[in-house]
Amino acid sequence: MRLILLGPPGVGKGTQAGFIIERYGIPQISTGDMLRTAVSQGNALGLQAKSHMDRGGLVPDDLIIDLVRDRIRQPDCSAGFQLDGFPRTIPQAEAMTAAGINIDIVVEFRLDDEELLERSGGRLVHPPSGRTYHALFNPPRAAGKDDVTGEGLVQRKDDQADTAKKRLEVYKRHAGALVDYYSQCAARGQSHVPRYIRISAAGSLQEVRGQLFAALDEYSTTPMN
Ligand code: AP5
Repeated sequence: MRLILLGPPGVGKGTQAGFIIERYGIPQISTGDMLRTAVSQGNALGLQAKSHMDRGGLVPDDLIIDLVRDRIRQPDCSAGFQLDGFPRTIPQAEAMTAAGINIDIVVEFRLDDEELLERSGGRLVHPPSGRTYHALFNPPRAAGKDDVTGEGLVQRKDDQADTAKKRLEVYKRHAGALVDYYSQCAARGQSHVPRYIRISAAGSLQEVRGQLFAALDEYSTTPMN
């Protein structure tokens, strides 16, 4: 199963990706996590990406596209993968199609702006693993500590209110075109047409997970092409 998880910052893509790994065993390819690792390592990619990320903007397409193409070629992606945070622009989506990377399902998560900002505002992360918590909605067992390692949790710099708002604006600037790109594959006469699923992310983690699994289970028993 080859998935794209679409949706605004803070909607819960990464959280649901964790549940998908557990149930379907397909790896999560999070461009945000890959970029944060590059920044923390201070490598060439990280140095180029950092200023864009800190401002809440997008990292240039050419830096991201090769990164994802190379990742998808790894053996653990042979039975499927989930793209979390990619594609974010039409050139990224077109590069995937041009590379012959077919997608089976696009899941679009929706939530209103106020709740999105509440979710990103309370998010706590464990940088080495990417594990994510929320101070109110998904708290760690011990305040401020990762459940697995006991190490400290931090707030992402781009979750500060002004940057989170900027990220939401940037998402909205590109989202309509991306949604059209994937929801109108059939109308464009593309040979491989992904199934397009919209999910309200307004419920609890478990409620959203229930809707998502119901949709994905239906696909796994009745693949389209
Ligand atoms: P990235 O890391 O991809 O950020 P994002 O897409 O903005 O998504 P988030 O990680 O903010 O949110 P999420 O939807 O995964 O939510 P989560 O599950 O954590 O990108 C960061 C930056 O990297 C970008 O701004 C850009 O600069 C760059 N970048 C990345 N990819 C790029 C690309 N392809 N092209 C160019 N640039 C790129 O949940 C959020 C919080 O809510 C958590 O605290 C969680 O516990 C809580 N929560 C989750 N679900 C629920 C629920 N149902 N109820 C209550 N709380 C919930």
